Amino acid sequence: MSTIVAESILFILAGYDNTASTISFVAFLLAQHQSQQQRLRQELREIAVDGTITYQDLMEAKYLDACISETLRLYPVAPFTERQCTKPYTVPGTKVVLNEKSVIGIPIWSLHHDPRYWSDPETFSPDRFLPPNKDQIKSGTYLPFGLGPRNCIGEWSSSVLVSCDVS
Ligand code: HEM
Repeated sequence: MSTIVAESILFILAGYDNTASTISFVAFLLAQHQSQQQRLRQELREIAVDGTITYQDLMEAKYLDACISETLRLYPVAPFTERQCTKPYTVPGTKVVLNEKSVIGIPIWSLHHDPRYWSDPETFSPDRFLPPNKDQIKSGTYLPFGLGPRNCIGEWSSSVLVSCDVS
């Protein structure tokens, strides 16, 4: 019974709260950045030729995706995640040994704001997530949905949910 309650609460918090917060941050940033807002409105107007936006249209709305991705970079709703070491491990190229059962913190917010990986990191710039810039993003430096076998199970669906609300 406690497992069912725990999983239900996780779904409500992980699913609804993260999605709602992301939508709020997107709206906040677009309100502050009028030119990006106009560009997004233009993209959506061109897509919704007959006044409706289909699922397929959303998949093709590249600037919308870039705005949401950039929002999740600046304001990752999960600023931090953790992993527990299952066996002793030496970090490659160092003498740092992680012991079994050590808990490792992964600083998502700090990675997203690190000037070594992002030029002008405090600036809202959705263009970072459009080609060719997108290909320059270093693997492991952008983790709004975590990474690996325990990453967010809603990564794909939440992108669609946020896109629907923003548009
Ligand atoms: C914008 C929306 C969302 C964001 C930014 C987000 C972010 C995250 C992050 C960072 C994690 C931890 C991943 C890791 O440590 O590697 C996570 C885990 C999780 N998320 Fe999401 N999430 C979102 C939406 C959702 C939705 C819609 C659902 C449900 C349908 C969901 C369900 C889960 C679950 C169940 C986990 C735990 C996975 C596990 O431990 O194996 N999330 N999410």
